[in-house]
Amino acid sequence: MLEVSSLAVRYGDVRAVKGIDLAVGKGEIIALVGANGAGKSSTLAAISGLVPPAGGRVRFDGEDLAGQPAERICRKGVVLVPEGRRIFANLTVAENLRLGGAVHHGRAAAAELEAELLDLFPILRDYYRIRGGHLSGGEQQMLAIARAMMSRPKLLMLDEPSLGLAPQLIDRVFDMIAALRERGVTVLLVEQNVALALEIADGATVLANGEAVLSGSAADLAGSDLVREAYLGA
Ligand SMILES: Nc1ncnc2c1ncn2[C@@H]1O[C@H](COP(=O)(O)OP(=O)(O)O)[C@@H](O)[C@H]1O
Ligand SMILES: [Mg+2]
Repeated sequence: MLEVSSLAVRYGDVRAVKGIDLAVGKGEIIALVGANGAGKSSTLAAISGLVPPAGGRVRFDGEDLAGQPAERICRKGVVLVPEGRRIFANLTVAENLRLGGAVHHGRAAAAELEAELLDLFPILRDYYRIRGGHLSGGEQQMLAIARAMMSRPKLLMLDEPSLGLAPQLIDRVFDMIAALRERGVTVLLVEQNVALALEIADGATVLANGEAVLSGSAADLAGSDLVREAYLGA
């Protein structure tokens, strides 16, 4: 579904991503893991068109996305939930969800999808009329993901969904991601929390200093000495 090859991102003289390869198949969860500053967000920014790639190709459903404007890429179903759970704090949960679905598909379809998401994530139904800003960090993250789901993404890209959350909330957010997988959603998951990412992902790539240093099945990576020593504290 998504095939990234030799992708490079530069900010002036800073080479943030130095030619990485990445593939995500339909229905898979693929994790992109690595330390702070490794180039994970820059990779997502380049895939979603927020920064123009300095080189390489981004193929999605057979089409080259590299260099296309972000809005166009989003409309093709490649949707990013950026770091820091950016929901509209002054709008209710209901309004946040409605904005996510505003892009296409019409009212009836949006209402149906919203009902499905509220069944799947009842906390959002409980807080339906509450302003987003009153939700806890974990609940805001769930709302941000649900809002992205309202646009029926083909590929959902999540940037550090666990960042800054208390452990039990992290579990709930990851349960949510697992539930989406059950429904066939394809996910590219960026995480600094390598252990957690490898638990949920099918495959993973480890980024360090803008380079892909290791990639393979999540089980293989979890068992590799490099990952265990550098990222899992073994
Ligand atoms: N807008 C920017 N301008 C200049 N340098 C940036 C910018 N964004 C990120 N960088 C640099 O690019 C590198 C990769 O950053 P980033 O992609 O955010 O890493 P990660 O998401 O893995 O923490 C870092 O060295 C960071 O300082
Ligand atoms: Mg980042």
